[in-house]
Amino acid sequence: MANIVIVGTQWGDEGKGKIVDLLADIADVVVRFQGGNNAGHTMVVNGDQFISHLVPSGILQKKICYIGNGVVVDPKVLIDEMEYLIRRGIDVTPQKLKISALAHIIMPYHGQIDIAREALKGKNKIGTTGRGIGPCYEDKISRQGFRFVELIDSSLFKERLAAIADEKNFYLTKYLASTPVDVQAITDVFGSYAERLAPHVANVSVELYQAISAGKQILFEGAQGTHLDIDHGTYPFVTSSNTVAGNACCGSGIGPKHITGVMGIVKAYTTRVGEGPFPSELFDDIGDRIQQKGAEFGATTGRKRRCGWLDTVVLNNAVRLNGLTSLAITKLDVLGGFDTLNICTGYLYKNTKITDFPPNLKTLSECKPIYETLPGWSEDISRIRCRDDLPRNTRKYLSRIEELTQTPIGIISVGPGRDETIVVQHPFSGA
Ligand code: IMP
Repeated sequence: MANIVIVGTQWGDEGKGKIVDLLADIADVVVRFQGGNNAGHTMVVNGDQFISHLVPSGILQKKICYIGNGVVVDPKVLIDEMEYLIRRGIDVTPQKLKISALAHIIMPYHGQIDIAREALKGKNKIGTTGRGIGPCYEDKISRQGFRFVELIDSSLFKERLAAIADEKNFYLTKYLASTPVDVQAITDVFGSYAERLAPHVANVSVELYQAISAGKQILFEGAQGTHLDIDHGTYPFVTSSNTVAGNACCGSGIGPKHITGVMGIVKAYTTRVGEGPFPSELFDDIGDRIQQKGAEFGATTGRKRRCGWLDTVVLNNAVRLNGLTSLAITKLDVLGGFDTLNICTGYLYKNTKITDFPPNLKTLSECKPIYETLPGWSEDISRIRCRDDLPRNTRKYLSRIEELTQTPIGIISVGPGRDETIVVQHPFSGA
């Protein structure tokens, strides 16, 4: 039996939604373990597009989906998303979607703080999604958070909110010049959220353990990407959770011995939204072409994504940090039509070549990419379903990625649709 973690290897938006949706076909259970509605997964099934921010993409495959304790949940967003899925005929009953009793809740003031803080920072802003993700994780760590345990116990909820309202109001009004918390209004509206969501609240750790003991296969779905990890990413231009594979355990409540493989999702080029250094970023018309051809707009905020060449310094960092056992290459079709393609294989820093991703952001921002140039292809690859049938230069590009990362490619995505995929080695097979 296999239990696989899927993570983004770059700065998020690698196309995890499609791959998770595809793999969920074989999995019995899909679990989200970190992040919140800062994530956006786009999936195309039979020509219909679905975007999910909180509900694991496995819901489309009628699998049991869990939102783990490591996720921060905006209850309104979750309820709206559930209603949207229900309207589109998808089963989102409490048997299909379960939320950890220990998952933290994004409160209205978290979004307020996120937005007001970014505005105050001006040009030094992080470029957050403004969804209150960071402030919610802050309250979790400072033990002022609300979990589903508190949400569904109305007296506990009221008591806690009253206890923290003074401090929040002081910060909101005196420092951020924002509006104060309205305890009664929050209590009322969150009472209705509690009622709607209570049937979905579960002891996720226990249920996952039971599923593993029963021989079920679990897919752990990461959000964002390795380089947005709070510890290992390009701090402070990162998200507020651990996005690396190790957090699949902490964020869902199972032990590491149960993880049998880690698949890293690699966009065939690199993109990033928000601020922060990005050595292989393109500022010319090639970057614009990739942005347009790849429709590189954030699924959550609609912002244009910054685009650049594939960077194997970034990839190798992800290989090590996540213990990747295989790669899934996405959006390979977008690279068609270029005479040549560059792959960044190292950085030049003060006349010295470095191949390890530097921990110091200032160093990273001074790094110049060292490129290897490969021939491009012009053929349409979207109808190809076997790696050997790909044009010679496409195969060369893929083999070079495998050589440079020492990691085999298991899946190649050649278009947005579920069927526009080449499965070389399914991560759930042979386990
Ligand atoms: P936050 O997660 O909203 O606090 O934003 C922190 C940083 O992470 C910003 O640069 C965001 O653009 C980035 N970010 C958060 N979620 C995603 C995602 O799902 N894809 C890509 N970038 C993200």
